[in-house]
Amino acid sequence: MPTGSVRLQGQIKVPGDKSISHRALLFSVLTRGTSTVTGLSPAEDCLSTIRCLRELGLTLESGSQPGSIRVSSPGLSALTGPAQALAAGNSGTTMRLLSGILAGRPFQTTLDGDNSLRSRPMSRVLGPLTDMGASIDYQGRSGFAPFTIRGTTLRAIVFDSPVASAQVQTALLLAGLQAEGETVVKVPGMIRDHTVRLFKHIGVPHRQDTNGTVAVAKLAEPLAPYNADVPADISSAAFFMVAAVLLPGSDLVIRNVGVNPGRRLVFDVLKRMGADLSLDNEREQAGEPVGDITVRYAGRLKGTTVGEAEIAAGIDEIPALALAGALCDGAFTVAGAAELRVKESDRLSAIVANLKGAGATITELADGFRIEGSKELAGGSSWATFDDHRLAMAGLIANLACNKPVATQNLDCVRISYPGFQNDLEMLLS
Ligand code: S3P
Repeated sequence: MPTGSVRLQGQIKVPGDKSISHRALLFSVLTRGTSTVTGLSPAEDCLSTIRCLRELGLTLESGSQPGSIRVSSPGLSALTGPAQALAAGNSGTTMRLLSGILAGRPFQTTLDGDNSLRSRPMSRVLGPLTDMGASIDYQGRSGFAPFTIRGTTLRAIVFDSPVASAQVQTALLLAGLQAEGETVVKVPGMIRDHTVRLFKHIGVPHRQDTNGTVAVAKLAEPLAPYNADVPADISSAAFFMVAAVLLPGSDLVIRNVGVNPGRRLVFDVLKRMGADLSLDNEREQAGEPVGDITVRYAGRLKGTTVGEAEIAAGIDEIPALALAGALCDGAFTVAGAAELRVKESDRLSAIVANLKGAGATITELADGFRIEGSKELAGGSSWATFDDHRLAMAGLIANLACNKPVATQNLDCVRISYPGFQNDLEMLLS
């Protein structure tokens, strides 16, 4: 990969949104019949969801277009207990959302994941599912995979989540759709609301209040199958957005990007740092707002603080945004982001170590970091990914933005969210 005077130019459509793809696949268990999902993410995480759904008795077949899939569901009541442990791979969304579905099924299922997933906290979902009546047996450490869920007739709960997590909300709503009574889930602050938008799109009865509360009751009968066309993933687009605002001469259009208010922090933060970004051709797709993002290099960015109230809307984009922060004029601070310590890796300490190695002045905080921005970064360092896809892609962008090459270790993990990332990056470089 060249370093120095490179820029990003042209147009691109990045792969389908990973969060929405998981939901578009998983919510088919609420239907009886064949749904069609288009624009599906090719991420390995979504392949984990597909594999698990097959084990539960659904039939999933590729359609004629890339990214299109037909999902045939026998209905919730006809799901079958899998013969072996369900392998969620690296995917926290697969494991947590499936737990919500399985808690209400009258069979026993073991869920497991790779070493990273085995170290991520599951009790935020499994605790309330136990309160609803499900039994959980941990094979190893309590609160972590692998674990076995024994599903049952669930009772509704009112749950006030301490974590601003869309995964927790979605898992409990999926359980609530199988429970006697009304299940009410409240999350603090703004989260990605893909679940509620898809519920509206596919006809899941629910009630949404303005205070972050969503309520559901037991689904009386299977839903009709649906069509869902998934927008492009802003979390993948974020790496190209950051590269384009850092590399002089860049001029890039990223088409059809999902700009859900609970996801667009990267756009809003880069803009308030002074980047030249615009959103055009705004429209709706499968109930989600989408638009075309144009990014043009416009000189050096200024510093900013990303605080707790807004962090959930960009939690996955902090590794990319940190690069912009390292090259800004002033200070760039991230706070209220302790959740980053329990993602695919401890992203706070990984960002700090990698940027320090590349020459940035950065201090790790308990719940974030502070960078004293500089005009240039020396590079000539190695960038550890900890097998975390977002760190790997950040490393490849760091390599372009630093004076000397940055060598990223274990690039293979980009397949978790964006298998074609390196090819697409090469295509845009000029
Ligand atoms: C996701 C929600 C976020 C995000 C993850 C995907 C989802 O996690 O970090 O990559 O699809 O609901 P939390 O909801 O746990 O914050």
